[in-house]
Amino acid sequence: MFKTIIDCDPGHDDIMALLTILAHEETFEVLGICTVAGNNTLQKVTRNVLQVEEYLDIDIPVYMGMDKPLLLDAVPQPAGHGESGMDGPVLPQPVRKASDKSAIEFYRDVLSREDDVTIIALAPLTNLAVMIKEYPELKDKIGQIVLMGGALNGGNINKYAEFNIWHDPHAAKIVFDSGIPVVMAPLEVCYAGGILIKETERFKNGKKVSKLVDDLFSFYLKYAIDRGWDKTAIFDLIPVLWLLRPELFSCKTGKVDVVLDGEDTQGQTIFCEGGGAHTVLYDADREACMKLFFEAIDELDGRYS
Ligand code: BDR
Ligand code: CA
Repeated sequence: MFKTIIDCDPGHDDIMALLTILAHEETFEVLGICTVAGNNTLQKVTRNVLQVEEYLDIDIPVYMGMDKPLLLDAVPQPAGHGESGMDGPVLPQPVRKASDKSAIEFYRDVLSREDDVTIIALAPLTNLAVMIKEYPELKDKIGQIVLMGGALNGGNINKYAEFNIWHDPHAAKIVFDSGIPVVMAPLEVCYAGGILIKETERFKNGKKVSKLVDDLFSFYLKYAIDRGWDKTAIFDLIPVLWLLRPELFSCKTGKVDVVLDGEDTQGQTIFCEGGGAHTVLYDADREACMKLFFEAIDELDGRYS
């Protein structure tokens, strides 16, 4: 059982990751959800997760974190996720609210009392960097950070960088240099473990959670369809699938360095194999990954019928 904190910026794929976590209560004890400025503003991404909680009638505490990167300005990405940060689903207005406690205070309190906490980081790493800087004595309480971010060959936001690392490279560097064990799911493994567009038809069955996923895909797939692709990555899902079934992935251990600047290179991750606290996933059994995802949504559909 992983004592888990989810740090995210929902985000279509963040929610698909969250749903998969919720389906696996035997594996994940979710202590809280932290939000951070990333794919859109802190207010919008927080509202998105609260709307999903409202739709599913769940009460995982939500803590708002940093509203901008450590040194740079926030740069929302409406092309990838829409003006709301999660266009597609029409969800209820949230009655639930985020906690009065900030994400950083939440990390302080949880890590003061718990050991071996797993952080699933699906967004820029600003909250984690601030927590490590403010409470360095607590970082040993983190068992591992399993994150979606980085790229080995080419980027999705500039020539070499992936968005989550690019958005706050200074935070990413603090996290990778912290000595905390990090498992990184870069772009390449997310593409390898992606979903065929034709496979998304299975969510058009009218069931409650499938409908949410189908509505998420109604916007999320446009990017791939516009480019003539037959497949898309569900980026943030991959760290969750790795925690559930690590044998579905190939990985290497070593050290990841983060490039802080340069038009083409801000946020580039450079991986050197060999002694280091970092595990990098680089390939995945796509069909088995998708089977795991489909089973998770089926499980939730059963729970909500
Ligand atoms: C990452 O960027 C975000 O927009 C996605 O949710 C994912 O975390 C992919 O580069
Ligand atoms: Ca995300």
